[in-house]
This record gives sequence, C-alpha cells and structure tokens, in this order.
Amino acid sequence: MTNPKNIHLAQFLVHGPTYHSLAMWRHPKTISSGYDWNKPELYQHIAQVCERGLFDTVFFADLNYIADTYKGTMDPALIHATQAPEHDPIPLLSFMAAATKQIGVASTFSVSHSHPFYAARLWATLDHLTKGRAGWNVVTSINSNQAANYGEERQSTDRRYDRAHEFMEVCQKLWHSWDSDAVQMDYKKGVFADPKKVSRIEHRGEFFSSRGPLNVTRSPQNGPAILQAGTSPKGQDFAVKYADAIFAIQPRADDAKAYYDSIKSQMSDIGRDPNTCKILFGIQPILGTSESHAREKQSEHNSLVPLEGGMAILSAHLNFDLSKLPAEAIMSERKEPELYRMRTRFHEADGTPMTVAQTAARHGQSVSLPQFVGTPSRVADQMEQFVDIVGGDGFMLTATHSPGAIEDFVDLVVPELQKRGIYRTEYKGTTQREILNQMD
Ligand SMILES: Cc1cc2nc3c(=O)[nH]c(=O)nc-3n(C[C@H](O)[C@H](O)[C@H](O)COP(=O)(O)O)c2cc1C
Repeated sequence: MTNPKNIHLAQFLVHGPTYHSLAMWRHPKTISSGYDWNKPELYQHIAQVCERGLFDTVFFADLNYIADTYKGTMDPALIHATQAPEHDPIPLLSFMAAATKQIGVASTFSVSHSHPFYAARLWATLDHLTKGRAGWNVVTSINSNQAANYGEERQSTDRRYDRAHEFMEVCQKLWHSWDSDAVQMDYKKGVFADPKKVSRIEHRGEFFSSRGPLNVTRSPQNGPAILQAGTSPKGQDFAVKYADAIFAIQPRADDAKAYYDSIKSQMSDIGRDPNTCKILFGIQPILGTSESHAREKQSEHNSLVPLEGGMAILSAHLNFDLSKLPAEAIMSERKEPELYRMRTRFHEADGTPMTVAQTAARHGQSVSLPQFVGTPSRVADQMEQFVDIVGGDGFMLTATHSPGAIEDFVDLVVPELQKRGIYRTEYKGTTQREILNQMD
C-alpha cells in the first residue's frame, strides 16, 4: 500500500572535507574508509548509494569564501575546515549523473555575482547533460566574505531578493526563448532550427538587460528544477513563486510546522498547488545497533567538534562576530539584528534557551540540524513523528562521516520506512521535477 503522504529524501553534500559536521574530516570512520573528499569517484559512489535508496536528489551547498568573521581571522576556518576549502560543485553534477540513471543532481548557485544569461545557459546545459535531472538551489549568498571575493558590498536581504526575482524572471524568459519544436533537423530541406520559433527576449529591468535568445535549445525540464533555502519574508516569497523544493532548517517540530503552513498557504494564495513544492527539513541521523550504541556514536562524533570551529562557522553563517558576545549569554535574549534570521535554532528540542557557546557547539556538530539518534527503527519513529506533526514533506539528510553514514541510512532506515508504507519502493518519473512531485 502506498501512502499519499510519503516521505521525500535528499542527501546534503559539500564538495569539501566537511558538510555540516566539523568532525567529518577526522571522524575515524571517514579516515578508515580510504576514500578522500577530493576524489571525484567518492561523489559518484554517493550518488549511486542515494539512488539505491530512491532519494529525490543529491544536493550540494555552495559557499565562495574562507570565513574570517570570527575574530577577524581565517585561522579557525582553515584549522577546523569550517566548510573550507569548498570546491565548485557544479562540475560534479554531470559526473554524478553519468554514474546514475534517475536520481536528481542539484546544486546551490548564487544569483548575487553573475548575470542571468550566464546562469540560464549553464543550467539549461546541465539539464541537457543530465537528461532532465538538474536542480538549482537559488540563493542570494550568505555573508560579506563572499561579496568581498567578487569585489562587492553585501546588499540588504530585501535588495538581494529583489534582484533575485528579476534574475529568475530573465532566466525564465531565456529558457522560453526556444519553442519546444524549434529544432527541426530537417536534413532534406537543410533547416536545422525554425527561426520563427526562436525569439529575442528584449529584457530591460531595474537590475539586468538581456537581448536573447539563449543559445541553448529548450532543455528537458525547460530549465532545471528550482530549489530554494531562505527564511525571510522576501525569501519565502521567492520560494512560493518559483521553488519545486525547499531546504529548511527548523530543529523543533512546532517551528517546522509554522514554517510549513506559512509556505503552503502562501502557495495556495497565489494559485499554486501546495503539493508542487516539497519542503525538506534538515536532520542528522546517527544509527546504532542499540540505543546505547547510538548514544555512544553521538558522543564520539560530538566530542570531535572543536568549539572554536563552531564559533567560526556560526559567525560566518550569521555574518556576525560572536566573539563580541559573552560565551554564556543567552542567544535568544540578544537584540543584535544579525541574529534574528536564525532565531529558531537557539533552543534545545524541549524549548530550553541555549547560550552562545551551546549554540556554537550545536552549529559545529550539524549546523543546528537536529540529531535523530537510535536504532534504525527508533530513527524511523522520530522521522514519522516529525512528519506527522509538521504535515509533510520529507528530509534533507546530513552525515556525521562520509562515506559510511549515508550507506547505513540507505541499508537500514530506508527498508524500515518502506515497511511502514511511508516511503516509495520505486521511482515514478524521469526528471528531477517529476520525482519531487511523486506523491506515492
Ligand atoms: C537552509 C539554508 C541553506 C543555505 N545554503 C546556502 C548555500 O549553500 N550557499 C549560500 O550562498 N547561501 C545559502 N543560504 C543562504 C541564503 O542564500 C540566504 O542568502 C540567506 O539565508 C538570507 O536569506 P533569508 O533571510 O531569506 O534566509 C542558505 C540558507 C538556508 C536557510
């Protein structure tokens, strides 16, 4: 029996030594695996494992900086590998697609530093190369370190999203500049493409001008599937309009439900079917053969995370130097405007407020994604309960070590979810968008 409320799964990745966990690069299981984060074959292997687990997608974050937000120095970022180095994930997408058949391959790509013509061309080409399995996580970028690398001042959130809206509008126009039947390939008449079916776009807006057309033919999904990650009102507005899926970090189920309801009702308000955008909440599963074994693994992992690394990564993500605050200050009581955006990550699961140091430690472990710890069956319980409270749609998984953690989840938790009738047993559909839209 299939369940229309089936869970969707995606795997979070970074093209670097750490994903969300700062322990990852020196976790004993990562070291003993013999794999190296800089070997491209590792990513093909991960894509194959996730496809075996029938995941919707493998999903790369992308940051373009080595942070010096904390204490004004890069040293902690380099010493603790706080999402640094971070190689460009885009070239990996077609490489991973070549080793798989159905799973989506998605990456973050910022709209803050390039022209929409370049992005539209890049993503249409990737959509062709992956046969319609490309997904683009559209972000406006995280901090002033990144802006400085492109010689820019970081704009306000509202301004960045205004620009992002127009960026996407231009991309959409360019993806539509070739009709689906424009390519005729009529060898006898000697006509490759019908000029009447390829149009200029003549866009002139506040931020961009583009004449068009794109010089890439219409791609299988007519541009990639669109993913998004942002929480501000303008960020939500962008997701509601464009996203096929959202990566959300809401550690507590009550906050996740409020966010979920807000997005889905805004979708209804603009006439979009709320099922056409899947909201994937980040979690970090830690599996053991017994509850105590899983707790031991959690302690082993968490003890490998240096507090200074947590301070550095949290400062970078907040774009605020946490060394300015006492380590024992209660995060949720602070009034600094930079802290507001991530306010739902400043409490324990039971609602207890956390100090600066506790929040930084949590951020270094998992970027504040909740740890679901236990036997495979207990982890499946926690997932099921979360989805029951929130109403849907699924999870973005992050690993404590790699390879190893993703394989364990696929081999041990996926069958458990299938047994309960809350997870698919086959893919239906061939494109990234179709798989995200699969309801059973
Ligand atoms: C869950 C999540 C993941 C994100 N991942 C990235 C990323 O990989 N690269 C990036 O440049 N920005 C990333 N961002 C930042 C967004 O681009 C955005 O600029 C920032 O969150 C501010 O928008 P907001 O106030 O709407 O959240 C992420 C944001 C969230 C909430």
